[in-house]
Amino acid sequence: MSIKNICCIGAGYVGGPTMTMIAAKCPDIIVNVVDINKNRIAAWNDKNVDKLPIYEPGLSDLVAKTRNKNLFFSTEVEQAIQAADMIFISVNTPTKTYGVGKGMAADLKYIELCARQIAAVATTDKIIVEKSTLPVRTAEALKRILDNTGNGVNFEILSNPEFLAEGTAVSDLLNPDRVLIGGEETESGRLAQQALVDVYANWVPKERILTTNVWSSELSKLTANAFLAQRVSSINSLSELCEVTEADVGEVAKAIGSDSRIGPKFLKASVGFGGSCFQKDILNLVYIAQSYGLKEVADYWEQVIIMNDHQKRRFAKKIVETLFNTVSGKKIAVLGWAFKKDTNDTRESAAIYVVDYLLNEQAEVVVYDPKVNAEQIYADLDYLNTRSGEDNRKLLNVVNDHQLAFEDSHAAAILTEWDEFKSFDWNTLYEKMLKPAFLFDGRMILDHEELERIGFEMYTIGRG
Ligand code: NAD
Ligand code: UGA
Repeated sequence: MSIKNICCIGAGYVGGPTMTMIAAKCPDIIVNVVDINKNRIAAWNDKNVDKLPIYEPGLSDLVAKTRNKNLFFSTEVEQAIQAADMIFISVNTPTKTYGVGKGMAADLKYIELCARQIAAVATTDKIIVEKSTLPVRTAEALKRILDNTGNGVNFEILSNPEFLAEGTAVSDLLNPDRVLIGGEETESGRLAQQALVDVYANWVPKERILTTNVWSSELSKLTANAFLAQRVSSINSLSELCEVTEADVGEVAKAIGSDSRIGPKFLKASVGFGGSCFQKDILNLVYIAQSYGLKEVADYWEQVIIMNDHQKRRFAKKIVETLFNTVSGKKIAVLGWAFKKDTNDTRESAAIYVVDYLLNEQAEVVVYDPKVNAEQIYADLDYLNTRSGEDNRKLLNVVNDHQLAFEDSHAAAILTEWDEFKSFDWNTLYEKMLKPAFLFDGRMILDHEELERIGFEMYTIGRG
């Protein structure tokens, strides 16, 4: 079966870029990306492609080439479902904030709503693709909803988790390490799987398209994120040991990463991993293991999160201790709010927690981030509910010019590894600061020795 019309429900960080790539590589397929969020859709349709709701290097060019040719963004969910042969579900699956599994399990209400809507609307057979990250065995529940509430049409369910990382979404989609497609081991399941293989085969080499059963595919996504986050927590745990033993975590990472069995990637010590998925997916994995009574498995993976929380807290604590045990009324410049460079996404960013800690100590924080606006920064802090919105606005300022953040400040902290921070005129910035001028590098991006020569009192994560 050859796919002619695709619908993707959810125009977020995954749905938007993924469908743009499919549209770009498969000019014969009509791709409709739909969302209930009118503002988001309006932004995807903005004539000025620099105003897309998501910042990703290379994305605006790709959207400009495909939009309104074979790629369409709209809020007409039902119409798009009706017209599609294949429907990707790419809605958010956040950690539950209520009821059973609160704070651990993935909230599947948006997924279920999609399934019920598809069942209600569809009058022809559809292939349903789980693009969202889901707990293992979700496809079973989806199938039951679709089959029991549908109009008698046939639904095949595939799992096709997305492995793109933010900031590199376009190149990850263009040249993926692998595409994973899980399908049911039945004749119609295999045909559906093949239909999706054929879509990706338009640009992905066949040997990189892996097919598995549905449960392996669902579980592989959670496992991949757990392994990646585990590497960050592993190196971060050693960064603390390095600081007390005068070993250098950068050197340790290089030494161990040269072993081809370990490999060099994902060994960068940091102020802690952020992003919408690592924590959410590991908590979900822990919850699933607990639900099956596998306590040791659950405890093992939970430690990755415990270590990450510790890393964020200890960085903030280090700032307070170094500033003579008080930051009350002191101005601290914070460089970077996004959870990593080259994205405007701030979900679970380490910066939120470090700054919250500093504000609790009554510091005056001034934030500069090249891509994140003030509204988002205040929204992130307000969401924590630690203090009133009014207090957050009193204690924290956001500036568009990084130089303003340094004016009469006692300290500066790098919380996101934006490249532009490396080329700041640090001599001038040093002059603007009160002395001693403290600089906390939570991302290991600055030249420690050079900055000490200028006069900064430096702290780099993982260096004693
Ligand atoms: P997102 O919040 O950016 O986007 C989800 C979108 O779905 C929102 O715009 C929301 O309005 C829309 N939506 C929710 N319910 C809807 C409904 N019933 N009908 C229509 N639209 C609806 O989320 P995201 O970052 O794109 O993540 C989506 C999924 O992909 C999650 O499961 C996530 O774990 C997974 N994932 C994310 C990334 C990433 O880098 N962000 C990478 C791989 C996998
Ligand atoms: C991660 C995975 O890399 C993707 O494969 C996956 O698809 C995605 O989660 C998801 O499921 O959402 P992402 O969170 O976008 O992607 O970004 P990463 O590059 O993985 O970085 C995550 C966090 O870890 C960032 O805060 C980053 O700064 C931190 N990190 C990463 C480190 O502190 N050290 C490292 O060596 C690598």
